[in-house]
Amino acid sequence: MTVLLRKSMVALAGVVIVISVAARQPVAQSSAPATSAPAPVVDNGDYVGADACKVCHEKHYEAWAATKHSRAFSKLQASEREGSACIRCHVTGTDAMIAAQGATPSFPNVQCEGCHGPGAAHIEAAKTGDTVTDRPKPTTEATCTRCHNDTSPRYKPFFYSAMKGLSHQVK
Ligand code: HEC
Ligand code: HEC
Ligand code: HEC
Ligand code: HEC
Repeated sequence: MTVLLRKSMVALAGVVIVISVAARQPVAQSSAPATSAPAPVVDNGDYVGADACKVCHEKHYEAWAATKHSRAFSKLQASEREGSACIRCHVTGTDAMIAAQGATPSFPNVQCEGCHGPGAAHIEAAKTGDTVTDRPKPTTEATCTRCHNDTSPRYKPFFYSAMKGLSHQVK
């Protein structure tokens, strides 16, 4: 009886080891190539991100950083970051960038370029002292209603002339 029990316990332990080794193996196999594979190429188009604007527009940057736009991505739960259904209005970039970058966007939140458009050319021009060429286009109501519309599940009524000043209140 005790011998039988001991034998079956040994057999059981063997099964447990086999199962745990088997369970661990796929993890080891799938994580190994990830570290050795070259980093995927991320295409950011002509977008550069808010930090690149801060250099010359520090007041606008600080004011923007105090708005909810600067934290909009953090409002999404992990499951809501799958696909583009939610992130398309909570990150910055083109539809193609948003589709390609998915849950790990290069530019999370509603950054400067979400309203002013991609800024690479403006920065190159400004660096040479040219502030006329590649000036960001003026914002219009459509700049905002691209996101502030009733396809948003949290839509609240939007009034452009009353709200545009909230984008960054520079003192
Ligand atoms: C190298 C300095 C520099 C950087 C970096 C820079 N800008 Fe500018 N920006 C300027 C200058 C200079 C002007 C012109 C200011 C003026 O005429 O009063 C300007 C003007 C603007 C304007 C006003 C345009 C208008 O017609 O009134 C906007 C909007 C703007 N920048 C947005 C951005 C954004 C967004 C970024 C980041 C993507 C950025 N800038 C990065 C220097 C810079
Ligand atoms: C939510 C949209 C939005 C975001 C995000 C945003 N802006 Fe603006 N920005 C505006 C609007 C709207 C105006 C024009 C304000 C007006 O007409 O009263 C403006 C104007 C400007 C101007 C022209 C000067 C002025 O105050 O009118 C500069 C420079 C500027 N923004 C830079 C930036 C920078 C830099 C960032 C990021 C740190 C940024 N903006 C983020 C909407 C935005
Ligand atoms: C790329 C999408 C997008 C664009 C473009 C956009 N918004 Fe928003 N906006 C959002 C999201 C998302 C929130 C909610 C952020 C949160 O609650 O975390 C928001 C919140 C706001 C709020 C309330 C947040 C606060 O800081 O109190 C105001 C006001 C607002 N937006 C104004 C504007 C205006 C004005 C424009 C255009 C000049 C604009 N937005 C353009 C996505 C956008
Ligand atoms: C069409 C653009 C758009 C889409 C798509 C969108 N949002 Fe938003 N979201 C906004 C805007 C704009 C706001 C700010 C509220 C407003 O003024 O409409 C916002 C605000 C929010 C907020 C904070 C506001 C609050 O009520 O506390 C959360 C959380 C949020 N959205 C979650 C989501 C989720 C989850 C999805 C996907 C199921 C989603 N959003 C899809 C534009 C969008």
